[in-house]
Amino acid sequence: MKPRVGILISGRGSNMQALIRAAAQSGYPAEIALVLSNRSDAPGLEIARRHGIAAQAIPSRDFRADRATHEAQMTHALDAAGCTIVCLAGYMRLLTPYFVQHWAGRMLNIHPALLPAFPGLDTHARALAAGIKIHGCTVHLVTETMDDGPILAQAAVPVLPDDTAQTLGDRVLAQEHIIFPMALSHHISGQSVPAESTAALVSPCA
Ligand code: GRF
Repeated sequence: MKPRVGILISGRGSNMQALIRAAAQSGYPAEIALVLSNRSDAPGLEIARRHGIAAQAIPSRDFRADRATHEAQMTHALDAAGCTIVCLAGYMRLLTPYFVQHWAGRMLNIHPALLPAFPGLDTHARALAAGIKIHGCTVHLVTETMDDGPILAQAAVPVLPDDTAQTLGDRVLAQEHIIFPMALSHHISGQSVPAESTAALVSPCA
């Protein structure tokens, strides 16, 4: 039986959709069993249901500062669905050390920058402000430090002279949709992502 994956989202869900689409291929080594959102208005919930995936909101606002109880409910839902791996796909709430330790080595995150550069928010605007010429995205295992942890895959894109945060973000997002399913697949199979599979994405700056 393929390992069952739970995806945590907070919004749009385009990375979630990329994972669902990849896992729908017969050769993919994982099954998406559940999508959880900490926001009941996350558009990704409906997208998941349209793909036939169970999707549930566990609104964090109902728990206010009580992160532990919110996370206990999420763990309960993930366990009930038989999930053994968690993917954070635009999940915008900090996790407690307890939750992180519980899923240690089994929880992946996608970040829209080439870590360790630009952890945190607004990565594309910050990348443009810094004047960097190569930007990208990272899939990594989640540890207690935000946007840290062993790197599983990265993809790089050029920063073009006329880029805005939007155009640069769109270019990065297209690569996120490629490397997240790839990294999950390789992680489950116990392989590292071959460097050449993502390095070729960088093209010379105009
Ligand atoms: C992505 O850029 C991801 O890297 C970041 O949050 C965004 C989520 O977008 N962590 P989506 O909901 O997957 O479309």
